[in-house]
Amino acid sequence: MEIFKKLRGMRDILPEEIERWKKIENVFIEVSELFGFKEIRIPILENKYLFERGIGSNTDVVMKEMYEFKDKKGREIALRPEATASVVRAYIENQIYNKEKITRFYYYGPMFRYDRPQKGRYRQFYQFGIEILGGKHPFFDGESVQILDIAFKRLNIENFIFLINSLGCKNCKGKYIEEIKKYFLANINVLCEECKIRTEKNPLRVLDCKNNSCRAILNKIPSILDFLCIECKVHFENFVNFLERFDINYKINPKLVRGLDYYTKTVFEVVPEKEDIAIAGGGRYDNLVKEIGGPDIPAVGFAVGIDRIVPLIKEKENKNNEIIYFISLGERAKIKGFEIMKKLVEERIKVEMDYEDRSLKEYLKIANKTGKRWCIILGDNEIDRGIIILKDMKEGFQEEIKEEEMIEKIKERIK
Ligand code: HAM
Repeated sequence: MEIFKKLRGMRDILPEEIERWKKIENVFIEVSELFGFKEIRIPILENKYLFERGIGSNTDVVMKEMYEFKDKKGREIALRPEATASVVRAYIENQIYNKEKITRFYYYGPMFRYDRPQKGRYRQFYQFGIEILGGKHPFFDGESVQILDIAFKRLNIENFIFLINSLGCKNCKGKYIEEIKKYFLANINVLCEECKIRTEKNPLRVLDCKNNSCRAILNKIPSILDFLCIECKVHFENFVNFLERFDINYKINPKLVRGLDYYTKTVFEVVPEKEDIAIAGGGRYDNLVKEIGGPDIPAVGFAVGIDRIVPLIKEKENKNNEIIYFISLGERAKIKGFEIMKKLVEERIKVEMDYEDRSLKEYLKIANKTGKRWCIILGDNEIDRGIIILKDMKEGFQEEIKEEEMIEKIKERIK
């Protein structure tokens, strides 16, 4: 018989790992909510052209990595490769801008990119993200960075750095692209095959090519920061001053361009100090709302790659020791035991029972193996005497508890 396997680039996340996932999600949700963010849930499927228009038709994400298909009515659909375009679509469609001046959204969920899978890179991966819509002040950029910094520190992730840059507004970016295009054309023979195409379609992307010969000529390339107009320059300076003022560990990298086309002015990525893989990325996108059909509204945001943060969290929590293992010996004990189990559940005490008939010895062995701290033992003898036995597997101690005192005593013992 065929044995089904998960698709390439997909993962099963099993319960022993989930605790770390939940911890990360909860920290990001908590910190964002403390800064006044509200959750938005957007669909996983969208019109494919939303991403073409939003992210840019010449980006790798759209050209090579999108999961696309036609639905039964022939509509062109894509699985979202990221969420910013969808959040902006929802913002426009629901006319949120008529309800409030500044909107702060956060979201969490799976994204899909048909990329070449490797360590830390999956085809289904999870992002937590925030978007602030309506504000052009550089403090909104600063706030985004601050949220990331607080959340990472709360997760005890210490050694990371914010790489920052400014891509300027449409004008500055346009002038810079013209300049580097000339430069790349003059050096076209040195560039790798892919960068030859990029020079025509999306010259900025040459800046983060990993190929050695491309890198060699990048050393002499002019810096985008020298192309910023006064407004963009001041914006960037204020952003940098914010990072200084609030002790954020950052480094300016004039070659940081990001893989999505919607960015203007501030861009940033978070990289653990000893690794070369971004755990978060974001920036300002002042033209996107207008470009996908809304009013002229500036915005900034980021997304964190949860899959990449999980391995950075050291401690593994064993939630099994919170669950009481209920051992019921015989048919009568199963019925009585289930009654008791229901009472415990109503009192929000975690408990599980195995209804197969096993010996006490075997049950205790299972409890041990699965890391349970507490067992309740119930057989005919205990039922006749109106008691249960509570066994502490860690201390190797057990006691008889009267049924009517059970809830109180158990709560006291396991707290
Ligand atoms: P991004 O840089 O494409 O930005 O993705 C953000 C983060 O998602 C990355 O830094 C990385 O940690 C994680 N990530 C991306 N691709 C993968 C993958 N294939 N496997 C595992 N993790 C991955 C965005 O998506 C923007 N929407 C961020 C943003 C929000 N900009 C403004 N607002």
